[in-house]
Amino acid sequence: MTLIAVLSGDGIGPEVTAQARRVLEAVDAGLQFEEAPVGGAAYLETGLPLPPQTLDLAKRADAVLFGAVGDPKFDALARAFRPEAAILGLRKELGLFANLRPAKLFPGLEDASTLKREVAEAIDLIIVRELTGDVYFGEKGQRRTEDGRRQGYDVMSYGEDEVRRIARIGFETARTRGGKLCSVDKANVLETSQLWRDVVNEVAGDYPDVALSHLYVDNAAMQLVRDPGQFDVIVTGNLFGDILSDQASMCAGSIGMLPSAALNGDGKGMYEPIHGSAPDIAGRGKANPCAAILSAAMLLRHSLARGEDAGRVEQAVARVLADGARTPDLGGELSTEAMGDRVVNALG
Ligand code: NAD
Ligand code: IPM
Ligand code: MN
Repeated sequence: MTLIAVLSGDGIGPEVTAQARRVLEAVDAGLQFEEAPVGGAAYLETGLPLPPQTLDLAKRADAVLFGAVGDPKFDALARAFRPEAAILGLRKELGLFANLRPAKLFPGLEDASTLKREVAEAIDLIIVRELTGDVYFGEKGQRRTEDGRRQGYDVMSYGEDEVRRIARIGFETARTRGGKLCSVDKANVLETSQLWRDVVNEVAGDYPDVALSHLYVDNAAMQLVRDPGQFDVIVTGNLFGDILSDQASMCAGSIGMLPSAALNGDGKGMYEPIHGSAPDIAGRGKANPCAAILSAAMLLRHSLARGEDAGRVEQAVARVLADGARTPDLGGELSTEAMGDRVVNALG
């Protein structure tokens, strides 16, 4: 029996996850699903954003289908109680250090991209984002300086083993694609990045078949809108990867199009759209479910070793988009559910 944990969370999380689940059910009626509260929804229900039962389910399951967490109404809570603590806790507890965020322009979406058609249509890249280290997980807090002024701090650091294992994922990923890896850092300023760059260069010795380049993150952000087609695989740290992937999503038409897989290198994975809970459109059937549906395809590929079924889902999404199916973010009028209907029907 294959068990999928469904943690749909807050805002549009439940709306888009419902469509991803439908697609998985249509692909395989034998999959078992178990839902559990996470994020703000879990906090309201249990007092904790990541209750022990939810973490336990995520650990027991073969894979986790995740929606999104967060709502401004929780922003005043202590950090450990905020919805975002749930997603960070799941990544850390499950050891999901490798986050794959593919960005490509589906044919038909050229006009949805904010880039010129000929620039946009070349985008087909994957961001390999380190997910359990960096400034996200360093010591953090607020304190008073000697003169009584308030100060906030977040320590950024990477250990060489953390960099080595994500670099390897980057090189391995590049090997299965165009053979190009671009490592993004800020080594001109940050010691964390200097170590990152040194270790990536060391690992490169094991991958002579992969063409490695380095970019500073500010330049990378510029290059991503100047000419996204130059990138094949980008490997970068947690913070830079977070920012660059939202940027890449818009090159590809919408943040509602980008899926992700968070992996521990051992088959275990959590699959989630890169977007958040979108409180501005939540509850109105306006969210694009494609990112969630494409995340379900990544689940099939990476955790269930069903690459063929993953391809079927991706082709179904491509087909309905080519036929003009559009949610509002893509300039259309279809509801979240209607978009899900189209994809399920296109599966045949
Ligand atoms: P967001 O990604 O939720 O929304 C940014 C913009 O994109 C909004 O205008 C939203 O309407 C739009 N958008 C996002 N997903 C969409 C979709 N599927 N279809 C159509 N439009 C979509 O980012 P934000 O507004 O900065 O954050 C809102 C909350 O979500 C915050 O609490 C934040 O911490 C949280 N968040 C959670 C995750 C996650 O759970 N993985 C990721 C990012 C942000
Ligand atoms: C993402 C989100 C998360 C991150 C937040 C909600 C903690 O932005 O998954 O991209 O920063 O990693
Ligand atoms: Mn993000």
